[in-house]
Amino acid sequence: DLYGPERRNSRGLDLSAPDVVESLLEQVAVAGNECWCAAASAGGDIVEGSPRALFSPADPDDQTGEVHEADATIAGKALELAAAVAPEWDAQGGVARAACLLRAADLIEAQMPVLMAMVVREGGRTLPDALSEVREAIDFCRYYAHCASEEFEHPIVLPGPTGEQNTLELHGRGVFACISPWNFPLAIFTGQIAAALAAGNAVLAKPARQTALVAGRVVALLHEAGVPRDVLSFLPGSGAEIGRILMADSRLAGVAFTGSTGTARTLQQQLAERGGAIIPLIAETGGQNVMIADSSALIEQLVRDVIQSAFNSAGQRCSALRVLFLQDAIAGRTEQMLSSAMDELRIGDPMHLSTDIGPLIDRSALKGLEPHIARMNKEALRLKRIDPPRNLPGSFSALHVYRIRELAQLDQEVFGPVLHVIHFSANRLDNVIEAVNATGYGLTLGVHSRIESTWARVCERARVGNLYINRNMIGAVVGSQPFGGEGLSGTGPKAGGPRYLHRFATERTRSVNI
Ligand code: ALA
Repeated sequence: DLYGPERRNSRGLDLSAPDVVESLLEQVAVAGNECWCAAASAGGDIVEGSPRALFSPADPDDQTGEVHEADATIAGKALELAAAVAPEWDAQGGVARAACLLRAADLIEAQMPVLMAMVVREGGRTLPDALSEVREAIDFCRYYAHCASEEFEHPIVLPGPTGEQNTLELHGRGVFACISPWNFPLAIFTGQIAAALAAGNAVLAKPARQTALVAGRVVALLHEAGVPRDVLSFLPGSGAEIGRILMADSRLAGVAFTGSTGTARTLQQQLAERGGAIIPLIAETGGQNVMIADSSALIEQLVRDVIQSAFNSAGQRCSALRVLFLQDAIAGRTEQMLSSAMDELRIGDPMHLSTDIGPLIDRSALKGLEPHIARMNKEALRLKRIDPPRNLPGSFSALHVYRIRELAQLDQEVFGPVLHVIHFSANRLDNVIEAVNATGYGLTLGVHSRIESTWARVCERARVGNLYINRNMIGAVVGSQPFGGEGLSGTGPKAGGPRYLHRFATERTRSVNI
C-alpha cells in the first residue's frame, strides 16, 4: 500500500560525509559555470529571437542564462494544441501516464547535481534546500504517478439495485494552466505539472519569471520521459501578460496557482469574467504563520526550530514562521538564547555548503521589505539584527527580530527574514488562538509544549492547514505531510496528499442497462 507507512520517498545525500560532499560540490561547480538557455514552446514550435538575460540573486554579475519568453502568439498556439490533444492524453489511462512520470522522476534523479546548481544559482537557495527541492520534485512525480495508476485506470464499480451496471470514473478536465512561484522553482513547478498530467490534463506551464531556466530543464526532462510536446507547453514570460491571455480563453479547464493571495484574487476575478464553463482555481497562497510556545517548552529545541522555521530560505517560504508567541515565563530566556544562536548564522554565497542563509530573490524583494522594517523600527522593539557581510554583491537581507504587542499590528505577510515576537500570559492561550484565526490566513502553525492538553486545544481550534507540534514548521514531506492552507492561504486540496489529483479531475457516472 503506497499510501501507507511502507511508502518511501527518494533518498537524499549525506551532506555530513566528506566524500559525498566532495563529489557533489565538484559536479555542482562544473554545472555552476554554465550559461543556461530556456525557450518558450508550444508543441514543436520553439520561440526564437531576442532573449532576456537572467542573473543570479547572489551576484548581479553572474549571468545564469537566457530565456526566450512566450508572447501572445505562442500562448494562443499552446492553448490550441493542448485543447486538441487533451482527450487523447486522458484516454491513455492512469497507468500509461504514470509510466511517463516515473521515467521523468528517474531522469530528474539522474540530473540531481545540475538541477541543484540551477536552483542555487538561479533561485539563490542554499545547497541543502536545493537537495530537498530535487528530492521533492522526484517524490511528486512518483507519488502522483502512483495516484494515477490507482485511481485513473479503472472505474469504481457501484451497486446496481435494479440490474443496471453503475460505474464512476475520473477523467482529466482538459487544459490546465500551472502557474508557479520562484521560491520553489523546481519542486512546486514540477509538482503542479505532474499532478495535472497524472489526472489526464494537457498542461500550459508558466514558471516564475526569475526562475525560468530550471523550469525549462524540467520541461525538457518531462518531454524526454515521453510526455508529448503538444500535451505540455512551456510559457515563461510576464505573469500579467501570459496570465491575461490564458485566463480569458474559454478553452481553459482549470488553473493551479501558487503565489500571493493578491494574485490569486486577480486570477479568480479574471476567471469569473470570462465566458464559458465555470472552472476550478487551485490556489496555494501566503500565510501569517505563528508558533506558540508555553512554559513547558524545551527552550534549546524551541530556539533551533524557530531559527529553521523563520530564517531558512531567508524566510522566503509560504510556510515560514512570522510570529512567535512566547509565554511570559520563558520569554526572556528564549529571546536571549535566540539572539545568541542567531549570531552563529552565516549569511552568504549559497554555493558554499557552510552558508545558512542565501539572498532574497531580487532587488525588488529587498526593497519591498524596507517599508515594513522602517515601520517596525518605529513601532516595535528591535530584539536582534544581523547584517549580511558588507562585501556581498547580491540581494542579501539583514535578519530581524522585533517584539510587537499584538498580531493585529501586522496587516499582511512579510515575505523575508523578519520574525516578530509577542508575549502572552498562561491564561490567554484561547485569545492567542482567536487572534491567529482572526488573521484570516490558515497555512502553518507550530506549537512547542509538553502538555498534551495544550497542543490538543490548539489543534482543535486553530483553522490552519498544517500543524506542527514540538518541531519546526517548514519542509512538508510528500505523502507524509500533505501541504496547503485554508482561508486567505488557499483553496486546498493538499499537494502531496492522496486527494490532490481529484481537484484536477472530473467525475463521470455511467449507468448501463444491459
Ligand atoms: N511545502 C513547503 C514547506 O513546507 C512550502 O516549507
